[in-house]
Parts: sequence; C-alpha cells; structure tokens
Amino acid sequence: MHLISLQRSYDRFAPRYDEIFAPQQTPKIEALVGALPDPLPTPVLDLGAGTGIARRLLADRLSGPLWAIDASRRMLERAEGPRALGDLYRLPLRDGCAGLALSVTALLDFVDPAPALAEMARVLRPDGWLALSVLKIEAIAAVQSGLAAAGFEVVRRLDLEQDIGFVCRPGR
Ligand SMILES: C[S@@+](CC[C@H](N)C(=O)[O-])C[C@H]1O[C@@H](n2cnc3c(N)ncnc32)[C@H](O)[C@@H]1O
Repeated sequence: MHLISLQRSYDRFAPRYDEIFAPQQTPKIEALVGALPDPLPTPVLDLGAGTGIARRLLADRLSGPLWAIDASRRMLERAEGPRALGDLYRLPLRDGCAGLALSVTALLDFVDPAPALAEMARVLRPDGWLALSVLKIEAIAAVQSGLAAAGFEVVRRLDLEQDIGFVCRPGR
C-alpha cells in the first residue's frame, strides 16, 4: 500500500485501534520481548509504534528511553513518551543510535521490505538487537532475504499466531 493511503487509513482507524487490536498485539509483543536480554538494551525504537501498546507493556522493563516512530499522526497522538512521525523506509534517525529496534506488525503490504530492514540495521548499534514481527500473509521469504541482505543473523524465529517473529543481531 502507498504510504499516503496507509497513513490515511490508520489515521481514520486510530480511535478504535486499541479496542480491536490490543488483545492480539499484546501477546506478540510479550513473546518478542521475552526472547530479548534483561535488562532490555536501550534506547529502544518502536518502529511502526501505532498507539504505543509496546511502551505501555514495557514501561517497567525500560532503563532508558523508548522512541515511538510511526507514519500516522493520529495513531502516534495516542502513544505516550517521546515520539516522531517517520517512514520505516527512511528513518529520521542517525546511524547507530539504538540498542533495540522493535517492529511489531508494522511492515505491511510490501513489495520489497529490504530497504526498511536496511534502515533498521543502519540505526542499530553493532551490539544491538532487532525484534521484528510480520504478518504470516506477507511475503516471508522476502523478509528473510532482506534480513540477510541487511547483515542480520536470525537468532530466534517465533510463531506468534497471526505473525512470524524474528529476533536478530546485526552483522559484526
Ligand atoms: C498494525 S499497526 C501495528 C502498531 C503497533 N506496532 C502494535 O503492535 O500495535 C501498523 C502500524 O504501522 C504503521 N506503519 C505501516 N507502514 C509504515 C511505514 N512505512 N512507516 C511508518 N509507519 C508505518 C502504521 O501507521 C500503523 O500505526
């Protein structure tokens, strides 16, 4: 889907998002984060953060900042804490600024996810982590080849009901 259509559709949907989707997003986020080191590496970037469900769930586990990044202004208005409008394919962030990139059901309806995965690799520190989930109906083979092209090593693969989860380390 084109970014403008996607923004419009999430802007319209924002008031009802949590009521409809929090029950299915919550266990995905908990499973992904459960596969990460404790304490969580920070700063955290929640990429495609939507209404900020992850921040609310992780509040007690955060020892540093969590930035919510999303293309939909109306979704992001519902998130708490630091946030910025941005496109996952062109992140408004400097190289190596994050300890953890979390992206839950945010790469949607893509032709080629590789540029977004390369952006995730760019913004992570060399000792960082990526925790990514993608709907099973998406092109999972393209995600796997995009992760490899971006230099990620997949250390865990998780079955998250509607999504596949990937816990990854950047190339060294
Ligand atoms: C299904 S929601 C998931 C939100 C959140 N991660 C969660 O688990 O509740 C998808 C979110 O990704 C955002 N998104 C999708 N494609 C994006 C892109 N290219 N750049 C920035 N945000 C994007 C949408 O605006 C929407 O808020």
